[in-house]
Amino acid sequence: MASRKIAVIVGSLRKESFNRKVAKTLMLLAPPQLDMTIVEIGQLPLYNQDDDDAPPATFTEFRDKIKGFDGVLFVTPEYNRSVPGVLKNAIDVGSRPYGQSAWNGKPAGVVSVSPGAIAGFGANHHLRQSLVFLNMPAMQQPEAYIGNISKHFDGDKLTDESTEKFLKTFIDAFATWVERHAD
Ligand code: FNR
Repeated sequence: MASRKIAVIVGSLRKESFNRKVAKTLMLLAPPQLDMTIVEIGQLPLYNQDDDDAPPATFTEFRDKIKGFDGVLFVTPEYNRSVPGVLKNAIDVGSRPYGQSAWNGKPAGVVSVSPGAIAGFGANHHLRQSLVFLNMPAMQQPEAYIGNISKHFDGDKLTDESTEKFLKTFIDAFATWVERHAD
């Protein structure tokens, strides 16, 4: 299999973010054909359509960076039953100017992570709604709703064996998905 470059977008800026810990665990578990890099989104100013003609350098850098990847893995918390604003902002920034979306056609994976039992289901599916419009084929199965996460880490180490086993299944399936849908 060819090597595929994957942008990992984490929807939390929190230092001890569980989502970032899960993202890093997925990177460790990934098969060798996935070359995964976390792309930071916390530096992006709020998107303003007035800036489309003269975008801030941070926007251009982010858009160009995303364009260089073969696929995107989103790992996100749920805020108020939806996607955190910081993640939606990054999606909006990458999607413009109109007709030049950096996301277009890139295969995607969605993982939601929460200390709660519902495991970010609302965020997971609100994100999928945007991915339809962005023309990003999003892997349907296995779905990844990782709940009760605060019980499953000791520092940065995932201690729950069944969660680790599931994450391995997920990332292997994602590698196959990317291979099927990447250019
Ligand atoms: C939350 N949290 C939360 N959790 C959840 O499962 N469903 C929700 O709707 C919300 N809503 C929500 C709103 C806001 C503004 C905050 C700050 C938090 C709790 C959230 O899952 C928890 O803080 C996670 O630890 C966030 O993920 P990270 O930062 O650990 O990756």
